[in-house]
Amino acid sequence: MSSLVTVDEESGEGPLGTVRDGAVVIEDGLIVWVGDAATAPAADDAIDLGGRSMLPGWVDSHSHLVFAGERSAEFTDRMAGRQYSAGGIVATVEATRAATDEELLAGVRRHLAEMARGGTTCVETKSGYGLTKADELRSLRVAEQAGVDAITFLGAHVVPPEYRDAPDDYVDLVCGPMMDTAADVAQFVDVFCEDGAFDDAQARRVLAAGERHGLRLKVHGNQLDRGPGVTLAVSAGAISVDHCTFLSDEDVDALAASETVATLLPATDLCTRLGPAPARELLDAGVTVALAANCNPGSGYTSSMSLVVALAVLQCRMTIDEAVRAATRGGATAIGRDDVGMIAVGRRADLHVIDAPGPEYFAYRVGVPLTAAVWRKGVRVV
Ligand code: NIG
Repeated sequence: MSSLVTVDEESGEGPLGTVRDGAVVIEDGLIVWVGDAATAPAADDAIDLGGRSMLPGWVDSHSHLVFAGERSAEFTDRMAGRQYSAGGIVATVEATRAATDEELLAGVRRHLAEMARGGTTCVETKSGYGLTKADELRSLRVAEQAGVDAITFLGAHVVPPEYRDAPDDYVDLVCGPMMDTAADVAQFVDVFCEDGAFDDAQARRVLAAGERHGLRLKVHGNQLDRGPGVTLAVSAGAISVDHCTFLSDEDVDALAASETVATLLPATDLCTRLGPAPARELLDAGVTVALAANCNPGSGYTSSMSLVVALAVLQCRMTIDEAVRAATRGGATAIGRDDVGMIAVGRRADLHVIDAPGPEYFAYRVGVPLTAAVWRKGVRVV
């Protein structure tokens, strides 16, 4: 192949560990050999990729796939000048509550297949459009049944209409009975800390309850304005804070001094006409950055990580190397995984072949579908 982009500095040249004319051997779903094609061991089947390149499958560490309905009318209004707000989520809550488990499962599977066609092989997804104990639990179970890699409980997405006058009672429900059942399925708990969703004190309660339930913590923060989300995430030891579109210098410094990953969602920023997020400032300060597509029916309905990488380069001033790393290893770090996000011996055989001589083509040929073949856990899915 033209370039084998391992995203493992130990295995090749440059920050992405690139091997020219490289080869990979896979067995039983895992990578068992990586290196120069000239020295590759014999294998039962061999595929010559010609002038194509291979990189790890994208790790999409932020999505909202368990939903019913769509909100193209809200999007159309937004393109005519209306501002995005958390309020639109309620329309999806209504549709999701009315859907059957089978309909929700079919939707998740359809989106996972779409993601795979774009080179995404590891996916995190959330509940958050059920907002009753039963609807949140079934959302999480649907994600589990669909085979999603990382599952997050987002009962604290917005306050549902029936609790509009008693938001703290809703937080009690989230932190108590809802989380008691959600923790059986989810690995992460998340809270949307923003005007129109949950304030700092409420969000702290949700994270504290998550910690008591043994969940790892995530925060949706600083999406619509400079809010307390980043400070909250860092002080609570969250694994990631997602969005980070509006950051103060103090937020950047706090992230740089922490282990918390800043997950940027450039396609969402594009589709809400907010941002772009200050990726350059974060990277220059030494923050670990992940890129994710945030596929959801409201703030941005794309699942394309290749587009996200292009936007990160073209709009957020990330280098190609930084963007590819953030969309692979960065995403893996944001969901606490070391078995995905790089092409290295012992890692999952999640491989993305592109019709291009190198990953710079994602931005250079922006909008052109480059994905030619995809393996997930050693099985060819595209
Ligand atoms: O990450 N910000 C909160 N949640 C989603 C959007 C959900 C929606 O608009 O339906 C997000 O952008």
